[in-house]
Amino acid sequence: MTDLLTLNARELTCGPSAPDDFADAFDGPSAGRVVVTFESQKHGCNLDLALSLLSALGTVPALYPDRGCWDELTVRDDVDPGRTHGVGENRLHVDLVDRDRTPRLIALYCVRGDPAGGGASALSDLHQAAGDLHEADRDLLRRPAFSYFTDHGVNGVGEGLHRFAILPEDLDSSQPIRFTSKMLPHLQRGELMDSETPEQVTAAFGRLVTAAEARRTTVRLQPGQLLIFDQWRYAHGRMPLGPGQSEIPPQQRRLLKQAYGHRPEQVGGGR
Ligand SMILES: [Fe+2]
Repeated sequence: MTDLLTLNARELTCGPSAPDDFADAFDGPSAGRVVVTFESQKHGCNLDLALSLLSALGTVPALYPDRGCWDELTVRDDVDPGRTHGVGENRLHVDLVDRDRTPRLIALYCVRGDPAGGGASALSDLHQAAGDLHEADRDLLRRPAFSYFTDHGVNGVGEGLHRFAILPEDLDSSQPIRFTSKMLPHLQRGELMDSETPEQVTAAFGRLVTAAEARRTTVRLQPGQLLIFDQWRYAHGRMPLGPGQSEIPPQQRRLLKQAYGHRPEQVGGGR
């Protein structure tokens, strides 16, 4: 179930003020997360129009320029099930979590849904999740004591930060919340953290993971649907693909296209 606002692509891409009205809808009624439905199944055209919509919100980096602006999220049965292309749950996280220019926007366009009925996209409002914690936990997570594995070979997203805070001083979307559930098992082993009180910090982080999962909503995108969200506020993930993926030919499995965006106020670098 989801409480996501769904908008019609035609209404956003036609008319004298298109696509700028989209920014008003995104920042207003949509609260930074929206599903846009294209009537046509002409995916190439829809992907161009999706970039047009994204450009109303900011600039679109090409993380891997030789692939263009859109990257493919495929389904593979020969990789870690919990990773990007795996068949299991991909736990709630923020992409490029350690970068000094963590992109604020993620766009996911569905070319094919999962024939086995799974693979819903998950979002969780981290402002609300952080608000669910006690102030003492938030204080521990505001300290620049954390690190994470950086992505190599990516462009337009700044440099990896050696140490960073999970929570910014203010939960006002002016800074990212540098959250990934995948950090928890490392913290439990005493890794990726520089703290005098590692047990307390790990416990506080674990409570944030629990709060984020409690706030999770899911949406199973249909072919021709586009999900755009503010990942400085919403963590995202993937629910498990349906059973029997190995029996589904790879070219028939779920296929999403992914692009990123920076908002104008982010130009000049993050924290
Ligand atoms: Fe991701």
